[in-house]
Amino acid sequence: MKKIIAFAGSSSKQSINKQLVEYTTTLLENTAFEVLDLNDYELPLFSVDREEEIGHPENARKFLKKIEASDGIMVSLAEHNGAYTAVFKNLLDWMSRIHGKTFYGKPMLLMATSDGARGGKFVLDMASSRFPRHDANIIATFSLPGFSDNFHDGKIIDKVLAQDLVNAVREFENAL
Ligand SMILES: Cc1cc2nc3c(=O)[nH]c(=O)nc-3n(C[C@H](O)[C@H](O)[C@H](O)COP(=O)(O)O)c2cc1C
Repeated sequence: MKKIIAFAGSSSKQSINKQLVEYTTTLLENTAFEVLDLNDYELPLFSVDREEEIGHPENARKFLKKIEASDGIMVSLAEHNGAYTAVFKNLLDWMSRIHGKTFYGKPMLLMATSDGARGGKFVLDMASSRFPRHDANIIATFSLPGFSDNFHDGKIIDKVLAQDLVNAVREFENAL
């Protein structure tokens, strides 16, 4: 059986992106998964001086190993000021210094959610154009707008959005 990793680009304990990721894992039909939490991979703030001083931190290596060992990646990015959260960007910066092809060509289901009407579309667009440069194989994208209206009791209640996500998951699983 194929095994994917799933995580949110957030370190918030109540992360709505993590809630979306956890729900999305329940839609997988024939795929094992491991949910990762960025809080378990704490890292110093990247700078070239810091890198010179300490080299590459173990937690960045560990996360990269998880990507390399996986058959696919499910990620939902939180949006801060129209961009990646600092915690996710920091992880990406460190990992990209260890291995520029950071996503190892793995199939990716790329998602974002926020309470806003755009549902994290800025960060989703940013990642959609950038991640392939790090060798991501983006199979499908999904944005959930208005999280607090559309997500209740651990699932998406809007029927159209829920079906869109099921379709994205099917495409993703077929690519694994
Ligand atoms: C510093 C900051 C900036 C934010 N900027 C945006 C934004 O640009 N667009 C948006 O839709 N939501 C924005 N939000 C709201 C986040 O989408 C919201 O906090 C969401 O819960 C973040 O996802 P998470 O819970 O998975 O961390 C921002 C929140 C913070 C704290």
